[in-house]
Amino acid sequence: MSAIGAPPSGDVVLRPMADADLDVVRGIDTLVYPDPWAPEFVAGQLRDTERWVHLVAERSGAVVGHAAFTVAVDEAHVTTVAVLPDEQGSGIGARLVAALCREAVARGLDAMTLEVRASNRRAVDLYRRFGFAPAGVRPDYYNPAGDDGREDALVMWAHDIGEPAFLARVDVAEQEARP
Ligand SMILES: CC(C)(COP(=O)(O)OP(=O)(O)OC[C@H]1O[C@@H](n2cnc3c(N)ncnc32)[C@H](O)[C@@H]1OP(=O)(O)O)[C@@H](O)C(=O)NCCC(=O)NCCS
Repeated sequence: MSAIGAPPSGDVVLRPMADADLDVVRGIDTLVYPDPWAPEFVAGQLRDTERWVHLVAERSGAVVGHAAFTVAVDEAHVTTVAVLPDEQGSGIGARLVAALCREAVARGLDAMTLEVRASNRRAVDLYRRFGFAPAGVRPDYYNPAGDDGREDALVMWAHDIGEPAFLARVDVAEQEARP
């Protein structure tokens, strides 16, 4: 996968997710999402490499984050970006988003989109730095069993990702991410 060959920052390395990562990824998701996906569901996606891109971030050999998109016609729909709480705020999320953006461009896609909790300022700000702009709201998009965690989603888009300006912005956003 050529798009994840970005220069490493510190000792964080990105690579495609493998079946052996599913349990630790589930562990991360359990800490950061109210309604994490089942490993069996993600395992099926790993086998569908035409339609799914799943990456993990490793620090010193331990998986500390992951991110994914699925391809819908000519769009990449980002489904997850998650970093272990103890590792947040050190630029790993930015590395993962940068890698997804580069892979979407490498696949010749035209646009990227995602949904994010409207209250999730850290994630919204992260995506904004990469050129994603809010384009609307999906009411009650997050609707887990019971009322806990029920919330609207902000829909964000990055268009014309094949233009050189998009990857230039991705490079800058990644370089400026801490540390
Ligand atoms: C959202 C998430 C993936 C971000 O990952 P991360 O590794 O913390 O992200 P980064 O370190 O690259 O960037 C976030 C922080 O760096 C800051 N930062 C990085 N580069 C910056 C820059 N150039 N300018 C200003 N601030 C910058 C951000 O403001 C933020 O700071 P904070 O720690 O004060 O909040 C992570 O917080 C997470 O896993 N959250 C739970 C799951 C989730 O909500 N995922 C998104 C679902 S759509």
